[in-house]
Amino acid sequence: MTIAVTAASGQLGAEVIRKLVASPSAGPVIGLVRSPEKALGLGIEVRPGDYGQFDQLKTSLTGVDTLLLVSGMDAPDKRIEQHRNVIEAAKAAGVKKIVYTSIQGPEESSSFSPVVQSNRQTEADIRASGLDWAIGRNGIYIEPDVDYIESYRARGEIANSAGEGRCGYTTRSELAYAYARLLTRSDHDGQTVNLNGTPITQAQLVDYLNGAFGTQLVYRAMSSAEYAADRTAELGPFFGAIIAGIYDGIRLGANDTPGDFEAVAGRPHQNWDDYFRSLTT
Ligand SMILES: NC(=O)c1ccc[n+]([C@@H]2O[C@H](COP(=O)([O-])OP(=O)(O)OC[C@H]3O[C@@H](n4cnc5c(N)ncnc54)[C@H](OP(=O)(O)O)[C@@H]3O)[C@@H](O)[C@H]2O)c1
Repeated sequence: MTIAVTAASGQLGAEVIRKLVASPSAGPVIGLVRSPEKALGLGIEVRPGDYGQFDQLKTSLTGVDTLLLVSGMDAPDKRIEQHRNVIEAAKAAGVKKIVYTSIQGPEESSSFSPVVQSNRQTEADIRASGLDWAIGRNGIYIEPDVDYIESYRARGEIANSAGEGRCGYTTRSELAYAYARLLTRSDHDGQTVNLNGTPITQAQLVDYLNGAFGTQLVYRAMSSAEYAADRTAELGPFFGAIIAGIYDGIRLGANDTPGDFEAVAGRPHQNWDDYFRSLTT
């Protein structure tokens, strides 16, 4: 069974490929990329895979049985059309199964909701495709909070609009493990699963970061409007609204789910004590 992974130059796509290559149950693995120069060193066959190029996608998917579609990053309407290109190209090329990396988040009432809705539309398009399918809804990556540690240290705080809301964060490595299982097994075909670790509050996240990095951070809850203005000033209107909406969603409970990780992965998600300990050992 030949498996192809889109966005193979990205962090999640590349990690899924590493997990597949390490899996005894996976056959040949092909990486699809928009930017071939960023995919050097994967150690597998790489083919062109720009979501905007239907003919290119169809050619590249020749001989592929199972496809992982990694969600794109464009504006919601554009993203839906790009994902449709991939789905239609997969059908035309004879792909039998699509696995899609969707997201958890607020479906309404936040400035992140249009992005969530675009993912829900792609989910619907995949369910209607006539192909076998499995959909994972990813929790929020925890790695960016670790990557920002020096900025947080300089400010002495983490401040956002999540308040007391709990968030089922995850890591790209854990997601990749789960997606390798969804790609190589059929027991979750026809299912939509939440992929995340144990939900934690921002105050708990701060405690974990302080424990791992020796910082003295505190958590400060901001109002939704205050945080939206703060993020827009730093990131611009598009990404600022997305980030602000993500934290509003956490406050509203949209990321507070026990999730289905263990059922998919066949083992529990890495716990946060072990994750943060692993950063310093
Ligand atoms: N759960 C979360 O917290 C979270 C956070 C951020 C993003 N996401 C979503 O998760 C996805 C994967 O995350 P990641 O960590 O792998 O992100 P990443 O490292 O930034 O990689 C994004 C990948 O998407 C590819 N891509 C974007 N638009 C494309 C298009 N039109 N056609 C083909 N490839 C395209 C990029 O290709 P190039 O190398 O050519 O740019 C890159 O390989 C993201 O794309 C986003 O939808 C989730």
